[in-house]
Amino acid sequence: MAEALTGARLDALAAAHLPNVRYLTGFTGSNAVLLMSGKRALLYTDPRYTLQARAECDVPVRIVAQGPLWTEAAREMRRRGWRSVGLEAQHLSHAAWLAVAQALDRGVRLKDGSGLIENLRMVKSPEEIAAIRRAVDLAAKAFTKALRKAKAGVTELALAAEIDHQMRLLGASAPAFETIVASGERSALPHARPSPRTIAANQILLVDMGASLDGYHSDMTRVGYTGRPSPRARRMYDAVIEAQLAALAAVKPGVKVSQVDAAARSTLRRHGLDKLFTHSIGHGLGLEVHESPRLGRLAAGTLEPGMVITIEPGVYENGFGGVRIEDTVLVNSAGAEVLTPTSKEFLEIPS
Ligand code: GLY
Ligand code: MN
Repeated sequence: MAEALTGARLDALAAAHLPNVRYLTGFTGSNAVLLMSGKRALLYTDPRYTLQARAECDVPVRIVAQGPLWTEAAREMRRRGWRSVGLEAQHLSHAAWLAVAQALDRGVRLKDGSGLIENLRMVKSPEEIAAIRRAVDLAAKAFTKALRKAKAGVTELALAAEIDHQMRLLGASAPAFETIVASGERSALPHARPSPRTIAANQILLVDMGASLDGYHSDMTRVGYTGRPSPRARRMYDAVIEAQLAALAAVKPGVKVSQVDAAARSTLRRHGLDKLFTHSIGHGLGLEVHESPRLGRLAAGTLEPGMVITIEPGVYENGFGGVRIEDTVLVNSAGAEVLTPTSKEFLEIPS
């Protein structure tokens, strides 16, 4: 962290984005401000977390009994005589920024320190990778169990509830995000919410799910068909699988993230489907489901060993349906290690 502060010409950084606070201190509560200078760190939280913060944190803790944490943190900034302090504009309300600015001397410069901690989080430690593997395996097991209940006649909501139930039974602290179950033409909505609609025969069924475990996340998407897939659905599926494998083959240390997206997009272009691929090829994941690196068409940066990313091309045809295939992937020195163990067959769901 000290190096990052020097590089950004900051005397100190004050962070309140909870995944960043957790990453640097271990604190898992819901309210904190972390002050960091080159040498020292100090965590502010409220009395609900007195015991928890002292048990979890490896930095000194100050409990603020009254008033906003930011007021106390700003007082400390003044006491230390810092002249240049970074705040996380990306995560901070405008009101909090103004409150800090008001509490400081005129001579103190507040700068945007967004992304400094996120950059450190991109390459995972062996412990973090182990935690992500556990979250991936848990979600895969829950998917297999819940799939027994997947058939024409059940509602999208019931299947999503079954998936969430199985994840909890297997020890997940929560779903990583709102589980997506989308059938028929609703599968053309990349972020469909499960609806009361009954899954019908001869339709696409898309499931996008992940588990949260020990603070870390997983993310996978699989697609089935209730009955024997129609030729149109099969063509779509085969094109997306080809694009997913092309993107996986492009994953290597030193490769530009935009090249990974390009590998999938050019495959889909050959099938005349690239215009229907309306999002990016993937994203980093760890303490958050979506974190750096972003793997968009226009994104900058290169892959490094230890990054954990998703590879998830999708094709969405309004009025018909969509197919997305998504794995959680570890970048290692040789290329991509696909962590998601689940088969990528076009699943035949009982109708
Ligand atoms: N699987 C959900 C997402 O990546 O947005
Ligand atoms: Mn994803």
